[in-house]
Amino acid sequence: MENAKKVILSGIQPSGDLTIGNYLGAIKNWVSLQDDYDSYYCVVDLHALTVRQNPAELRARTLKNIAIYLASGLDPAKNTIFIQSHVPAHSEAAWLLNCFCYMGELSRMTQFKDKSQKLGESVSAGLFTYPVLMAADILLYNTDLVPVGSDQKQHIELARDLAIRFNNLYSPTFKVPDAYIGNVGARIMDLQEPQKKMSKSSENPNSYILIMDPPDVIRKKISRAVTDDIGVVRFSEEQPGISNLISILGAITGEKPQEIEKKYEGIGYAQFKSDVAEAIVEELSPVQEKVKQLLEDKPYMESVYKNGAEKASYVANKTLRKMQKKLGLIPR
Ligand code: AMP
Ligand code: TRP
Repeated sequence: MENAKKVILSGIQPSGDLTIGNYLGAIKNWVSLQDDYDSYYCVVDLHALTVRQNPAELRARTLKNIAIYLASGLDPAKNTIFIQSHVPAHSEAAWLLNCFCYMGELSRMTQFKDKSQKLGESVSAGLFTYPVLMAADILLYNTDLVPVGSDQKQHIELARDLAIRFNNLYSPTFKVPDAYIGNVGARIMDLQEPQKKMSKSSENPNSYILIMDPPDVIRKKISRAVTDDIGVVRFSEEQPGISNLISILGAITGEKPQEIEKKYEGIGYAQFKSDVAEAIVEELSPVQEKVKQLLEDKPYMESVYKNGAEKASYVANKTLRKMQKKLGLIPR
């Protein structure tokens, strides 16, 4: 039966260039799930608009992210790959859900509190209602699982609350989704401040490695990564910098931290770092090559995201129509 597979949906904002954190923590896992789930992966361009974007850059990054999904091994025949704004049902459902979400709930979102503190007066209403659009993304597809980083857990909770509220007020309409906080995927930390998660929005380029960083840049950034003066390659809380490099290497080679520790017994940080850098270069080079090829093949790229939007729209519109009908909107 076609519907026997569980549904997965996730999205990444085209608000910055993707890092190896996105690659090892998210995209690589998506690839490993593609045979067992009915998966939807989108580039959430509407979410990126909650903070000011340069239009040309937004366009370029949206396409680049689609190319990165494909180049990393996501098969468009097995997954629905699309651009959020190409499926208008997301915006429409977000409005409807907005009418069921409380100001208090949105005020409690830590991501909003953090971002609005930084932005002060110029914080947009879109940033405030961002989690409602995310709930729409998820609920429209009868999603079972949402693979995200732990920072998104609160947003998934809200999506669940909205689904339950709507189901109770009307009749069962939405599947109540679960967050899927990857135990498979590594949590990659900032290379300069390894207590923090590596992020594409960091101001210091030495703190992250981009999926598209050239080999010499990758080598330089890894050689500059913060370590410690203990001098032993060991996975421990005392050595967050070294532990992070062990995680990165392990996520690429599939080795366990203990195996890596053993391999580097009596070997210095310089050699270890150089090996980590080479592993990253080797992992990313074919992906980069493929991304460049894909970006030159406009007709293929278009066929992927148009097909994706068509498949996604079919499912999303069915759910949207149900919502509208239950709310008392006249069917068209
Ligand atoms: P973001 O870049 O924060 O919008 O996250 C997009 C996706 O990439 C989410 O599923 C995150 O869990 C994942 N991700 C982002 N940064 C990291 C990181 N440093 N380590 C692991 N996963 C990450
Ligand atoms: N808010 C998510 C993030 O910043 C991105 C996102 C938007 C998302 N819609 C989603 C993730 C739906 C999962 C499902 O990471």
